[in-house]
Amino acid sequence: MSKTILILNGSPREKGNTAILSKQLTAGAIEAGAEVESVYLHGLDIRPCDACEFCQKDGNGCVINDDMQPVYPKMRASDVIVIASPVYWFSLTAQTKLCIDRWYAMETSGGFELAGKTLALLMVYGDTDLYTSGGITVIYTIESICRYVGMEVAGIVHGTAMNIGDVENNPVFLEQAYQLGKKLASPA
Ligand SMILES: Cc1cc2nc3c(=O)[nH]c(=O)nc-3n(C[C@H](O)[C@H](O)[C@H](O)COP(=O)(O)O)c2cc1C
Repeated sequence: MSKTILILNGSPREKGNTAILSKQLTAGAIEAGAEVESVYLHGLDIRPCDACEFCQKDGNGCVINDDMQPVYPKMRASDVIVIASPVYWFSLTAQTKLCIDRWYAMETSGGFELAGKTLALLMVYGDTDLYTSGGITVIYTIESICRYVGMEVAGIVHGTAMNIGDVENNPVFLEQAYQLGKKLASPA
């Protein structure tokens, strides 16, 4: 059975470094037989979780009627979810975080709907390393989320690129994204 991979792209730049790396990951995954879909979060109207707690009654789902609604079934149908986000202010972008906050509605009495799936992180930052950029904080956040919801972290690829397209000058980073795609497409 081929794997289904969903990329949640949280960069506001539609053709930025995250998009370029996501294309690389997609190429690797398709080469290895997976089906890949990418969601450009910045193009969607995803509102913040308003903590109404309606979703916490079993089976209710999220009451907010916005563009997150079609994302939920895509997530449920995926084997692998890729968080593709630049580092903004030593954290995930707001677009990425808005989406993740809304995962709150995926918790049911039977457990988290995402439990048993795998997750990968594709992350780019302008600074020179993982620590000064704040990328380390993102990794900690993602690992904490996965521990909580019961997802396995299947891979983390990160590196430096500042301006749009800079990542094209970093063949190692591009290759790492491609190889991550191949890995994610492989049977467990
Ligand atoms: C509002 C804003 C905040 C940023 N904050 C950080 C930061 O905290 N650390 C860092 O290393 N780079 C930071 N950057 C740089 C981006 O991570 C970098 O430009 C990246 O390549 C953007 O990826 P994209 O082209 O996919 O949008 C920031 C950029 C912007 C616009």
